[in-house]
Amino acid sequence: MKSFSISPQSPASPEAFETLDALLDICFGPGRLTRTAERLREDNQRIADYDRMAFNDEGTLVGAISFWPVMIEETPGLLLGPLAVHPDMQGIGVGQALMQNALAEINAERFAFTVLVGDLPYYEKAGFAPAPKNVCLPGPVDPARLLLRPSSDAHAADCARLAGMVRRAPELC
Ligand SMILES: CC(C)(COP(=O)(O)OP(=O)(O)OC[C@H]1O[C@@H](n2cnc3c(N)ncnc32)[C@H](O)[C@@H]1OP(=O)(O)O)[C@@H](O)C(=O)NCCC(=O)NCCS
Repeated sequence: MKSFSISPQSPASPEAFETLDALLDICFGPGRLTRTAERLREDNQRIADYDRMAFNDEGTLVGAISFWPVMIEETPGLLLGPLAVHPDMQGIGVGQALMQNALAEINAERFAFTVLVGDLPYYEKAGFAPAPKNVCLPGPVDPARLLLRPSSDAHAADCARLAGMVRRAPELC
């Protein structure tokens, strides 16, 4: 039985970043940096408080998730991603655990929503739904895969009215 642990930590050294990059290459393939969501990560800064890493029993990195500050007009939020789990460890709950662990800590007063590009059947388990139709990214994205989650019930009505381009917001770090 494979087991894992989730740690609220960020890569802390160049070697740790290389290990994370290698995992992302395995999970997404070499084209990962050409994706539209990547446009929101470049020249941006991850919110280290919400970084999570998953390790197997040997202490090897097997999964990771990160979040990046963005804005839709004047509303601050987060971009989720990448979320990646090593193929050898997929299907045992690592991805959902990484996501739930981080989402539970999001400061709703600071970030009203989380947006991502992904498959609804997977992410709706964590409270994501299709983004309002006038929300868009700075590049081509299948609208059915642009998903959004209000950070609290109190933000739900405002989030339903969101409209405009998601843009990077490193000033929110
Ligand atoms: C998508 C990914 C993060 C899921 O991680 P995981 O640890 O395998 O997921 P979990 O174990 O938490 O959940 C597994 C369940 O989700 C389902 N699932 C996995 N990927 C899915 C997808 N893309 N769409 C719908 N369901 C999916 C599995 O079928 C499984 O369902 P079950 O519980 O009914 O058997 C992982 O497969 C991965 O890294 N894939 C490559 C990179 C990627 O596509 N990342 C997401 C885009 S940002």
